[in-house]
Amino acid sequence: MDRTKGFTPALGFHALTPLYDRVVALTTRERTIKRALLDQAAIEPGQQVLDVGCGTGTLVIAAQRRHPGVQVSALDADPAVLAIAARKARHAGADIAFDLGRSSALPYADGRFDRVLSSHFFHHLPWGDKLLTAQQMHRVLRTGGELHVADWGRAGGPASRAAFLAVQLLDGFDTTSDNVAGLLPVLFGSVGFRQVEETRRFATAFGIISLYRAVKGGAAPRRAGPARQGLP
Ligand SMILES: C[S@@+](CC[C@H](N)C(=O)[O-])C[C@H]1O[C@@H](n2cnc3c(N)ncnc32)[C@H](O)[C@@H]1O
Repeated sequence: MDRTKGFTPALGFHALTPLYDRVVALTTRERTIKRALLDQAAIEPGQQVLDVGCGTGTLVIAAQRRHPGVQVSALDADPAVLAIAARKARHAGADIAFDLGRSSALPYADGRFDRVLSSHFFHHLPWGDKLLTAQQMHRVLRTGGELHVADWGRAGGPASRAAFLAVQLLDGFDTTSDNVAGLLPVLFGSVGFRQVEETRRFATAFGIISLYRAVKGGAAPRRAGPARQGLP
């Protein structure tokens, strides 16, 4: 993978970004999983929604089309992928604010959003950035707001674990191994989210994609350090 710009691009290498939509549609049951994530998020009229690591914008455009009255924002670190997303949104007639930025320092006010969404994103981050990102997601949600995530989940059987090696070769072993060890729910709980659950698991050509849900409760979040000591 190429991290020369400080982040892992959509398909691991910048030159592959134009192929992202086709590859993901063919290999990850994209429509089914993104539809299930939006069903789970149960967005209501008037709500403010943020998609973190939005990539080519497929999820956030679908969210806007499904819920025309909602205010939708989307953030990604890669200007090239955001250009593709903005073009797709224009074609779809979707009104979306695309922001260039890092998930570890979200440029939004505390408590601004009712829903934070993220799909196929956390496995691009090393553990320290996963922690900072989860903290930031917690910060920008209002109390009672919800986080809904789709990403590579705890490994299934040996065959799906072996297939996942292809993803690890593209996106990196250090960032993906937390996912396949089933640590995302631990991560969300460690920054103060409540009612953290893995809600569904989908078998794909390259392994299991899980859906997660977590709620921002009333109590102050515990501070989480950058290391992963103490985690199972
Ligand atoms: C695999 S793509 C997922 C795109 C989209 N969410 C989807 O479901 O198709 C991961 C995206 O995360 C972005 N990304 C990686 N590291 C990031 C960071 N630290 N902050 C924001 N975006 C980042 C990449 O540029 C890429 O577009």
